[in-house]
Amino acid sequence: MTEEVLIKRLNSKNRRNLFEEADSVRRLYCGEEVHLRGLIEFSNYCSRNCLYCGLRRDNRKIVRYRMSFEEIFQSARFAVSKGIRTLVLQSGEEDGRSIKELCDIIEKIKKELGCAVTLSVGEKSPGEYLALKKAGTDRYLLKFETSDEKLFKKMKPDSSYSARLGCIDTLAKFGFQTGSGNIVGLPGQTPDIIAGDIQLMTDLSLDMISVTPFIPHPDTPLAMDPQGKMVLTLKTLALTRISALDAHMPATTAMRTIHSKGYEKALKCGANVIMPNFTPGKYKKHYSIYPGKICIKEDVEKSLEEIVSMLGDIGRTVASGYGHSLKGARFC
Ligand code: 5AD
Ligand code: SF4
Repeated sequence: MTEEVLIKRLNSKNRRNLFEEADSVRRLYCGEEVHLRGLIEFSNYCSRNCLYCGLRRDNRKIVRYRMSFEEIFQSARFAVSKGIRTLVLQSGEEDGRSIKELCDIIEKIKKELGCAVTLSVGEKSPGEYLALKKAGTDRYLLKFETSDEKLFKKMKPDSSYSARLGCIDTLAKFGFQTGSGNIVGLPGQTPDIIAGDIQLMTDLSLDMISVTPFIPHPDTPLAMDPQGKMVLTLKTLALTRISALDAHMPATTAMRTIHSKGYEKALKCGANVIMPNFTPGKYKKHYSIYPGKICIKEDVEKSLEEIVSMLGDIGRTVASGYGHSLKGARFC
């Protein structure tokens, strides 16, 4: 879709057709199965200072934690015992743990639990990415957050847009199933910037794409800015599904946080993944990238039951496989 068409559809009042089209594309390319990815937020230390994020370096109010090797492994084992086939290990950037220790954890999880492993630990050097790949990491998530270079520099003052895109390129070249995405509703973002995001998410041939609403965090410079709109986020998700076709796309916790039916709404306009949170209760309340994260209040076993029952209500099923990339034979 051209930028002009994308902007027109983002601004259009007739969203029913758009959502139905995205739902049909999702059905055709991904089927009715919904993949559950077990999220473990193993450290909230971060060396960066992104304006929108509660984990930013300058936030002195946050209680920092770093889960031990054993705690990470126990959380991983618990998730797998609940039927989870993919674990997503996430932290802030540069949490102080060595790549060697991260590799040891991944090797142990791969060997003893046999699940797929996704990492989301930020920008690293090519050598570090290679080590993580050799340790057995299957997938890697690195959101570009916004495709507008000026807005990127404003939102991520200590990162560089070109370096970030370079990392995404390196990850794909090293054979990681690669995920990226944007945030909808960042202050200063315009419809043409969102159209650019959709085009970039498509052009990168991503295996996984995340579209999520901005939620202002009180202890950041964006505390007083308005929250990203649910409908605009859903339109972005739907247009991305229609453009990118077969990428795995989550109904994000942020969508569920800003709307009680956020999961259902996202699953009905393109999403095919949910990420239940397996971070231990004593830590997950401190992984406050944004406030009010719904998973903090919920016990993961209870939320798994609710997810399964909600999926039944909307005619979808829990996937039984690993949910690897749908992009051909590359990862079989
Ligand atoms: N609102 C929405 N998403 C956020 N993230 C960080 N802070 C916020 C926020 N305030 C997202 C970013 C990052 C991911 C770990 O969390 O997209 O990549
Ligand atoms: Fe750190 Fe990521 Fe938050 Fe930026 S978005 S402050 S890199 S955890």
